[in-house]
Amino acid sequence: MRYIDLRSDTVTQPTQAMRDAMAHAPVGDDVFQDDPTINELETYAAQLLGKEAALFVTSGMQGNACALMAWTRRGDCVVTDPHTHIAEHEAGSYAQLSGVSLRHPQSVNGTMDPDSVRACLTDDSDVQIAPVTLITMENAHSSGAVLPLENMRAVYAVAQENHIPVHLDGARLFNAAAVLGISDVREMTQYCDSVMCCLSKGLCAPVGSILAGPKDLIHRARRARRILGGGTRQGGILAAAGLIALRDMTGRLTEDHENAAYLGKMLHEIPGVSVLFDRLDIDMVFFHTDWDAAKAARFPGWMLEHGVKVTGCFGGEYRMVCHHDVSRADCDTTIDLMRTFAAEG
Ligand SMILES: Cc1ncc(COP(=O)(O)O)c(C=O)c1O
Repeated sequence: MRYIDLRSDTVTQPTQAMRDAMAHAPVGDDVFQDDPTINELETYAAQLLGKEAALFVTSGMQGNACALMAWTRRGDCVVTDPHTHIAEHEAGSYAQLSGVSLRHPQSVNGTMDPDSVRACLTDDSDVQIAPVTLITMENAHSSGAVLPLENMRAVYAVAQENHIPVHLDGARLFNAAAVLGISDVREMTQYCDSVMCCLSKGLCAPVGSILAGPKDLIHRARRARRILGGGTRQGGILAAAGLIALRDMTGRLTEDHENAAYLGKMLHEIPGVSVLFDRLDIDMVFFHTDWDAAKAARFPGWMLEHGVKVTGCFGGEYRMVCHHDVSRADCDTTIDLMRTFAAEG
């Protein structure tokens, strides 16, 4: 049975072109840096992202962890919005692996107030206070919202004034670029010193992310990746799919955004369902319901019985995500089921 899977854009299947490329990829040993397909991916990604060098990592989390390990020292402090993936969904990796603390400026859906960022910055003159040595932004943000380019520019200006590097968690960088109408992502990455972007998720590669930045940073990140056990041998098999993700898959993300906008609009018309339109920028639809706890608990199981995989209520919110393997017809099926469940389920 084919399920409609709206749990996340991480559930996308690799395309046939990816599977074919993986089967035929020339490979070497990446710990010796002689895997030709990984080398090709890293060179291509560095150029695409406008950075000196790039590193293929096994996941977005590993990319963020390598960035933090490479930019900071134990005891440092990182300024980031409180609801970033790094702050909330990486199992405290920042503390465990880098030994840093976090400080949060005022922000709305990931868009940080530049003056508040400035107020968070401390140097190492006061021994009572951990020095800030890194700022991170996340675009697109996990809330579903896209940060305006002007905000990225303003936060980066504050960072530069204070000689502090900026790391951009761009797990969904190309989604954000599509929403901002940017065809050359260097327009965004000019406002960060390092950037992580995922090849999986909406771009459909089965495994992998890229961390890009200055050469010396990427050298330190390569060591961090080794420490984390992320140095692959014939990893070119995975990089082959990553090359297709970057070359061929970024241009279609608008289709997912349009499906999400449609799904959101239609769900909002269902009595008891309120879509959070202020965060409906990319492929994610967040909504509240007026359902009681028992009905909320029945929801994922009922949808599954009817062929749709969804996550349950989390923090008072529900989320559905459109992606390559979800069509407009799948959205219509979901809307019909939701209408039935809301009325009778
Ligand atoms: C904003 C953001 N950063 C990082 C990650 C981590 O990516 P991965 O699941 O590949 O480790 C995710 C995952 O969904 C994410 O949404």
